[in-house]
Amino acid sequence: MAEKVYQCTVSAPVNIAVIKYWGKRDVGLNLPTNSSLSVTLSQDDLRTVTTASCSKSFEKDTLWLNGHVEDISTSKRLSVCVEELRSARQGLEKEDDSLDKISQLKLHVVSKNNFPTAAGLASSAAGYAAFTEAVARLYGLPWTPTQLSRIARQGSGSACRSLFGGYVAWEMGELHSGADSVAVQVEPVEHWPEMRVAIMVASAAKKGVSSTSGMQSTVASSTLFQKRVKNIVPERMQAMKQAIRKHDFETFAKLTMTDSNQFHACCLDTFPPIFYLNDTSRAIIRVVENINAAAGKTVAAYTFDAGPNAVVYFLEENSAYVLDTLYAVSRNAQGWEDSERNPTSVKIDDVASE
Ligand code: ADP
Ligand code: DP6
Ligand code: CO
Repeated sequence: MAEKVYQCTVSAPVNIAVIKYWGKRDVGLNLPTNSSLSVTLSQDDLRTVTTASCSKSFEKDTLWLNGHVEDISTSKRLSVCVEELRSARQGLEKEDDSLDKISQLKLHVVSKNNFPTAAGLASSAAGYAAFTEAVARLYGLPWTPTQLSRIARQGSGSACRSLFGGYVAWEMGELHSGADSVAVQVEPVEHWPEMRVAIMVASAAKKGVSSTSGMQSTVASSTLFQKRVKNIVPERMQAMKQAIRKHDFETFAKLTMTDSNQFHACCLDTFPPIFYLNDTSRAIIRVVENINAAAGKTVAAYTFDAGPNAVVYFLEENSAYVLDTLYAVSRNAQGWEDSERNPTSVKIDDVASE
């Protein structure tokens, strides 16, 4: 007789930071050197879909990421998440004898991103949020998004913010244990639902330096980074929260662009330097400046994660103007991935974490 298979499927969204997380103060627990703030995008466009299953017939904890097989036990980040979730399930099984002892079974996890992986579009954020949530639900853990975000953070820092919708802060916390280093919703999506994002793919290729190793080199070598963490980010976090609270797009946009620029300046100040932006990325910075100059006010804001691909924030009321210009650029200039959907226009979203 075939063994029973327990199974659960979830999807998780990408989030794009407007105040960037870059730097770990504790690599083991994945605690950041600074707080960060992001906007969660709609899963209608960019998403990770993950199915977690377990069965007596499975021999090893295994992940299939976009069809490529990976042994979970050889990845510290994946196994930390699995261990915590499995021991929570064990706790439930001890309390309630009627529960099937599925914590003793091996896991098979199948995950697919419908956007470029490891290319600076936050695949680790959506990926670890989905991984954590899929296994937690398979195990029937009655956890809040905050509890899930504490686990997801240990897989990838940015993932803790993908467990919430709308405008989300990851507060760095003070405790050595990391217990207070969690994501919190600053405002729900309904607070400012007019926010839109254009994703412009310059290259879908895997980045040369992963976010994890890039930020560790920055912490080790950049003096500019030390100044950013101590003197700049704390005030910027407050100013960004205030801009969101007041629906002040101009301030939101200026902070977003300057924070992206400073993050990439820290990458350049790393030794050896890290180059995530390319000529195509720099060209889009100029295009956005031109869009704003022609409008006579700031109607669009670029930001780049650890990769060359552009994310442009704008409000629905300026959607036709901003998108038409970006479409024209991607059609007429070299350097953009040739696709019907470049740029992709994305709404922001509520999450979906129940
Ligand atoms: P990105 O800018 O895309 O977040 P990172 O360098 O931060 O790039 O992380 C990329 C890594 O995240 C991948 O190499 C993989 O290990 C992990 N990852 C991406 N997507 C998933 C997923 N769906 N499930 C599990 N892990 C994932
Ligand atoms: C530039 O969360 O991918 O996207 O914690 O090592 O997995 P790890 O790093 P990751 O870093 C994200 C860096 C960033 C900025 C951000 O999302 O805040
Ligand atoms: Co990442």
